[in-house]
Amino acid sequence: MMSKRIIFILYILLISFKTQPSKAQPWVRVGYFFNEKEGYFPISNIDSSLFTHLICGFADLNSTSYELSLSDSANLDCSIFTKTVKKKNPSVTTLLSIGGRTNTLVLSSMANDSFHRKSFIGSSIKMARLFGFEGLDLWWVDDMSNLDILFDEWQDAITLEARNSTGSKLILTAAVNYAPRIRSYNYPVESIQQHLDWVHVRHCTDFLPQLWKNFTAAPHALYNPSSTVCSTDLGITAWIKAGLSAKKIVLLLPYFGYPWTLVNPKENGIGAPATGMAEGINIRYMEIKQNINHYRAKVTFDKNYVVNYFTMGTSWIAFDDVESIQKKVSYAKEKGLLGYFVWQVSYDDNWVLSQAAAHELEGNKGGQNNSAAPEVNKVGQNKQSYSLVFIILPIIAAVIILLLGLVIYFRWMRKRKLKGKDIFSGIKEASE
Ligand SMILES: *[C@@H]1O[C@H](CO)[C@@H](O)[C@H](O)[C@H]1NC(C)=O
Ligand SMILES: *[C@@H]1O[C@H](CO)[C@@H](O)[C@H](O)[C@H]1NC(C)=O
Ligand SMILES: *[C@@H]1O[C@H](CO)[C@@H](O)[C@H](O)[C@H]1NC(C)=O
Ligand SMILES: *[C@@H]1O[C@H](CO)[C@@H](O)[C@H](O)[C@H]1NC(C)=O
Ligand SMILES: *[C@@H]1O[C@H](CO)[C@@H](O)[C@H](O)[C@H]1NC(C)=O
Repeated sequence: MMSKRIIFILYILLISFKTQPSKAQPWVRVGYFFNEKEGYFPISNIDSSLFTHLICGFADLNSTSYELSLSDSANLDCSIFTKTVKKKNPSVTTLLSIGGRTNTLVLSSMANDSFHRKSFIGSSIKMARLFGFEGLDLWWVDDMSNLDILFDEWQDAITLEARNSTGSKLILTAAVNYAPRIRSYNYPVESIQQHLDWVHVRHCTDFLPQLWKNFTAAPHALYNPSSTVCSTDLGITAWIKAGLSAKKIVLLLPYFGYPWTLVNPKENGIGAPATGMAEGINIRYMEIKQNINHYRAKVTFDKNYVVNYFTMGTSWIAFDDVESIQKKVSYAKEKGLLGYFVWQVSYDDNWVLSQAAAHELEGNKGGQNNSAAPEVNKVGQNKQSYSLVFIILPIIAAVIILLLGLVIYFRWMRKRKLKGKDIFSGIKEASE
């Protein structure tokens, strides 16, 4: 009876310690995966242990039924994605991304009509469950006019479905522009805050390539000392200012760079005259490293912009090497963001960048640095409330349970001793 009680107490103790790490995980490390036409990358080659979430792209939309489809060779693999990546890391969470290459007019007319939205939403949930995805992601950044109502209805449907489902509630995320308002773009920030689990914030390079026509530049600059138009920091700051909480923001780590052609190879810093950024061309990190090794090029890290670059004849290539990736991850931590997302996992070179990013994130987990900006102090508070809920409370609970256990145990021991004494004295009395 008593041993049962002790086992029960031990069991509770074990549970309170065991569940702690998974709940304490404040960061997401997201990896997008998408098989492009060139360079087929088998899903089984993904090192899923480096990510908390992996996203398969992209499900298309049928232009008449507005239901999802996985129809061509590029995305057919998404049907076996979850099963495959969970082999190496059973606890990785998978999401299915929608859009990406779908005609943006089809998406617009889906969002514009309540019946179309209904079939879209219903089929997205169905497909996620069919292929074992634990979440859905919308990769569509061209038309914000009906996003608020779409997110509202989508989250309602997901919440309703979760009541009946044996699986846990689906995660809902979206990729968004680098800032909430650019030109005519205007995101429904309140709806995003309310209905989405988080957003993947893209970089302005995708939207303002004309800025970099005549001069070399840092296309994925974290900071831009020479411009007030475009940098990761400006975009993130704008999202937070617009009302989106930092804990809903996931930062881009680009595993690719952009090439320029220099006017004069001797003039090869950031802002050097160039005959043009090769538009639409991006070079994977893997290929960049091959070139660097082949030409024994010297790579420069610019810590003001947070970018790496090198010259190869008249070609000039700006990209994110290990230093830039580390710096961006540490920025995400300072700002109290939810984490980072990688575009995309198959561009990495032997997982060098993904390892550097994961390592940087874990590096300072315990040691908090509150010495910088006011924003950083806020992060410190966030971290403290995290540690209060997920570390201190379970420990206090454990100590209380332990004390209770001891009290019960000692009481029981005393009772047993008393009983023993009684019996003993009884025997003694009898024998006398
Ligand atoms: C789209 O859906 C319609 C109606 O369900 C179907 O007839 C058509 O074949 C689908 N198109 C594609 C490309 O799958
Ligand atoms: C949205 O619907 C309205 C009215 O039903 C229509 O006039 C408009 O063209 C539609 N827009 C798109 C992008 O489909
Ligand atoms: C949930 O299950 C009940 C009973 O099986 C069913 O009547 C209802 O339609 C289901 N709701 C949803 C949202 O699937
Ligand atoms: C780039 O140079 C061309 C020709 O000299 C000029 O017409 C154009 O305005 C310049 N673009 C930018 C963004 O400065
Ligand atoms: C804390 O952050 C500041 C500013 O980012 C930096 O200068 C300092 O070296 C950091 N201190 C530690 C102990 O990491």
